[in-house]
Amino acid sequence: QSIILIGAPVDSGKDRRGCLMGPDAYRTAGLAEALTDLGHRVTDRGNLAPASTMPDSDMPRHIHAPAETAGWTAAIMAEAETAMQDSLPIFLGGDHSLSLGSVTGVANDAAARNRPQFVLWLDAHSDFHTPQSTGSGNLHGTPLGYATGRAGFHGFPPVPHPVPEANICILGLRSVDQAEREALQATQIRCHDMREIDERGIARPLAEFLDTVASARGALHVSLDVDFLDPSFAPAVGTTVPGGATIREAHLVMEMICDSGLMTSLDLVELNPFLDDRGRTAQVMVDLAASALGRRVFDRPTQAFS
Ligand code: ARG
Ligand code: MN
Ligand code: MN
Ligand code: MN
Repeated sequence: QSIILIGAPVDSGKDRRGCLMGPDAYRTAGLAEALTDLGHRVTDRGNLAPASTMPDSDMPRHIHAPAETAGWTAAIMAEAETAMQDSLPIFLGGDHSLSLGSVTGVANDAAARNRPQFVLWLDAHSDFHTPQSTGSGNLHGTPLGYATGRAGFHGFPPVPHPVPEANICILGLRSVDQAEREALQATQIRCHDMREIDERGIARPLAEFLDTVASARGALHVSLDVDFLDPSFAPAVGTTVPGGATIREAHLVMEMICDSGLMTSLDLVELNPFLDDRGRTAQVMVDLAASALGRRVFDRPTQAFS
C-alpha cells in the first residue's frame, strides 16, 4: 500500500504548547521505517503550514486562536483531499484540532467517489463541542462538532459533506462535558465509554462498528488521540484522564482495524513530546500505527465477537 505521511504541527487548539513537535517525534521514533518494513511504500510530505485567514468577529471571545486554527483547517482539508487520490494518508499531529481539516477533507474525497464516510474516534473525550458550547475555548474539543456540520464555526471553511452522525463511533470515553453529553444524547453517534468497555470488552463494540462500515462499503477514517490510552503508558499528552485503554486493548483495536481492511486514513494526534518520558509515548503511537498497518506476531484470523 502507498502511505503518505503529512506533518500537521497544529498547536493552536489549546493553551498548552508542545504538540507542534509531534511530527518530528514520530519521525524520530521511526514511523516511516516501521511502515516500510511492513512492505508499504511510504512518502513523507514534510510539514504543512496554515493558510492565512482573517479573524471573524462572530467567534465567541473566549475561543483560543480561532484564526490560526481556521487557517490550519483550510490547509489540512485541501491536503487531505489531494492525498486521498491514490494513498492512505497519516496525519501526524499536532493537537486534535487538526481533525477539523483531516476529517472534512477525507469526507470530501469520499463524497466524490460516492462512498459513505465513517469515523472511528479513539479518545477519552468526545470533542463534540461548538465554539458556543465549549467552556474551555479550546478548539481541539470541537472537531467532531465541526465535521458533523454543527453551526457556529465562524471564519472556518464551510463543510460541504458533513459526516452523518450515525457513521461515527467513539471508543474510550471517560471525560464528557455536560453540554457535549446533552448534544451527544440527541444524536446517533455510537458512544462507548470505559464502563461499557470494562463490561463487554473492547472488541465487541468495535466489531459491530466495523461490520457496519463493511456492509456500507464505506471509507473509514481513524482518529487516534494519545489520551485514548491510559496515562501510565502514554504520559505525553496535556489532557491525561486516568482509566484509559491498556496497550493490549489499543493494539487489539489496531489489529482488528487492519484485519478489516477498511481503514482509508489515520490521524495520530495530541502527542506533546515536551511532556514525554524518553520518547516512550511517541514509540507507543508508532507501534500502534504499525499494528493498524499490518504488524503482527503471528498471522491468524480475528476471532468472531458477538
Ligand atoms: N472537553 C474538554 C474541552 O472542551 C476537553 C477536550 C479535550 N480534547 C482533546 N482533543 N484532547 O476543553
Ligand atoms: Mn481528542
Ligand atoms: Mn482526548
Ligand atoms: Mn460570521
